[in-house]
Amino acid sequence: MPTLLNIQSSPRGLNSISRSLSHDFVAAWRIEHPDGKVVLRDLAENNLPYVGIPWITGIFLTTDQHTPEMQRALAVSDELIAELLSADEILIGTPMYNFTVPANLKAWIDLIVRPRVTHSGPPDRKGLVTGKTCKIIIASGGTYDEGLPSAASDYESGYLKRVLAFIGITGVEVILVGGTAAVAFGSTTTEEFTAQFRPAVLAAAR
Ligand SMILES: Cc1cc2nc3c(=O)[nH]c(=O)nc-3n(C[C@H](O)[C@H](O)[C@H](O)COP(=O)(O)O)c2cc1C
Repeated sequence: MPTLLNIQSSPRGLNSISRSLSHDFVAAWRIEHPDGKVVLRDLAENNLPYVGIPWITGIFLTTDQHTPEMQRALAVSDELIAELLSADEILIGTPMYNFTVPANLKAWIDLIVRPRVTHSGPPDRKGLVTGKTCKIIIASGGTYDEGLPSAASDYESGYLKRVLAFIGITGVEVILVGGTAAVAFGSTTTEEFTAQFRPAVLAAAR
């Protein structure tokens, strides 16, 4: 029974373009995998903590050395990593905020990239999260497609690919859903806008 980990970052609920297309992805994935399980990690629903001293100190100590504060900080990280490790496929639906990932997605990344757990650390620096694929749907007001001068300002897709590769996830496909400003400014509807991207999203779900 394959498991899809569905990570959603947009706080805009039903108005969110990345969530709308992610919904289509999940529906198509369920048809492909009738016995599959979908686990939702909604980053906009509950704020994750930022990594701080208890977490940073705790990751280098053994469990018997952890203070209660470290235990609490590491428990969140443990839960997110367990969720990631038990998935076969990952979907990330996210906006672009200020040319990169929203803070809630960065908080998730900081908690799951962990030496000796998801990557080996030095000297090998090998990713330990292997055998998974990841599809990423990025909604942005502007367009950053390859070949456009604006592509140089997309610090999100390359960053996500890099950090996922660092922990061993190399089978990554990014779908850039650029131009959502047209919906925000009322020159098109969400339905009309998302229709252009649906074929690529459905293909990625197969
Ligand atoms: C705080 C903030 C920062 C944003 N920064 C960018 C940006 O750097 N580039 C861009 O093209 N759009 C930017 N946008 C627009 C969003 O990417 C766009 O509205 C997108 O559709 C949001 O995803 P969603 O529809 O899934 O919520 C920004 C929006 C917000 C609220």
